[in-house]
Amino acid sequence: MGRWMAAPGKAAVRAWQVEAPAAGRALFLPGWDEEAGDGCACVREAMRTGLVGPRTQVLAVERDPVLAPRVAACLDELGLAGRVRMHGRELSRLRLGTGQPLDYAFVDLLGNLDAPTAAWMRDELAPALSEGATLAMTFAYGMRGNRFLARCADAFEGRHSGHARQAASHFGIHDRLALAGLLVTMSALRGLSFTFAGALHYRDGVRSMVAYRLDGIRRGGPASWPSLEEVAGDVIPHARASRLAGHPGAARRPPMGMTRVERLLRALDDVPATLAGRRPGHVAAADRAARELRGMVASYREGGHDRSAAALKAWATRRARGWVHPSRRGRAGA
Ligand SMILES: C[S@@+](CC[C@H](N)C(=O)[O-])C[C@H]1O[C@@H](n2cnc3c(N)ncnc32)[C@H](O)[C@@H]1O
Repeated sequence: MGRWMAAPGKAAVRAWQVEAPAAGRALFLPGWDEEAGDGCACVREAMRTGLVGPRTQVLAVERDPVLAPRVAACLDELGLAGRVRMHGRELSRLRLGTGQPLDYAFVDLLGNLDAPTAAWMRDELAPALSEGATLAMTFAYGMRGNRFLARCADAFEGRHSGHARQAASHFGIHDRLALAGLLVTMSALRGLSFTFAGALHYRDGVRSMVAYRLDGIRRGGPASWPSLEEVAGDVIPHARASRLAGHPGAARRPPMGMTRVERLLRALDDVPATLAGRRPGHVAAADRAARELRGMVASYREGGHDRSAAALKAWATRRARGWVHPSRRGRAGA
C-alpha cells in the first residue's frame, strides 16, 4: 500500500526534510510503494545530499511485514548492506536504549500522529538524540477521527492557549491540527531546544499532509512548556521508567547513589498532578525544578557532570522534599 511516491509536492518536501549535516546514525521510515514499485526515496535523497555517507549507520523502520523485506533489499541495493538495522514493527515498539545517539530522525508517517507515537518520541527518541540533531516529521492532519490530535488541540486552545498562540505566531502555522502536531512534538521533546526550520504542506491523495523540520536540537529547552501528560491527559501512556535508563549515555552501570535519583525521576511526571489545585506558583516552581533535575541527570549520564553522585543525590532529595511540601520551603524553583 502506498501512494506517496506520486504525491504532488512530496519530492520537494522530502528534499527539504533531508537537508541536514552528515549523520553518524540516522533513522528513516524508508517505505516501499507497491503501486510505484519503488521506495526508500528519502534514503536515496539523503545519500545525494551527504546526510547519509559512507560511515552512516541507518536505522530503518517498517511495520508492514510484506514491505519490510522489500525495504531491506532496497537499502542493500543502495550499497548500505551491513550498515542497516531493520525494525520490522510499529515505530512505537522500537527501543533506542543503548548504542550510538541519533543525529537525524525522519518520522515520515503515512497517517496520523497518534498517542503511542507521541509517547515513543518522549520516552525513546528525545533521550536518544545527539546534541545538534535534526528531527523531520510528516503526518496527516485534517482527518476525521484524528481524536488524539483533536484532544491535544482542545488543550492548546483551552488551558494552554497562551503557549499555543505564541507558538502559532512564532512558527506561522495556523491550522488547528497541523499546529497541534507541532505543539505535541514540542511537549514530547520537552527539555530540549531547537531551531524551527519551517513547515511545508502537501496533499497525498485525499489527505492533507504537514511536514516540518527541527534543527540543532540540544538539551535544555524552555522550562515552561507543558508536558505530554498535561496536554493529552489519560490518553497518553505514562512516561516509561526507562526514559533515562534508555539514554545512550546510560549504557554504563549507574554509579552508587543514582538509584535514588532514578526513583525520583520516575516520580517526576506525577508532580503536576500531585500539586494540582495548589498555588500555580508552586506547580510552576516544581516543574522548573523537575526540568533542572532531568537536565542534570542527563548531563551526569553523558559524563559532563560537575557534582559527585552523593552531591547529586542530596540535592535531588532536597528538591523532592520541596515538591511534596511546597508550602514549607517555597523555594522549589530557587
Ligand atoms: C510515507 S511512507 C515513507 C516514505 C519515504 N520516507 C519517502 O520519503 O518516500 C511511510 C512508511 O512507513 C510505514 N509506517 C508508517 N507509520 C508507521 C509506524 N507508526 N510504524 C512503523 N512503520 C510505519 C508505512 O507502512 C510506510 O511504508
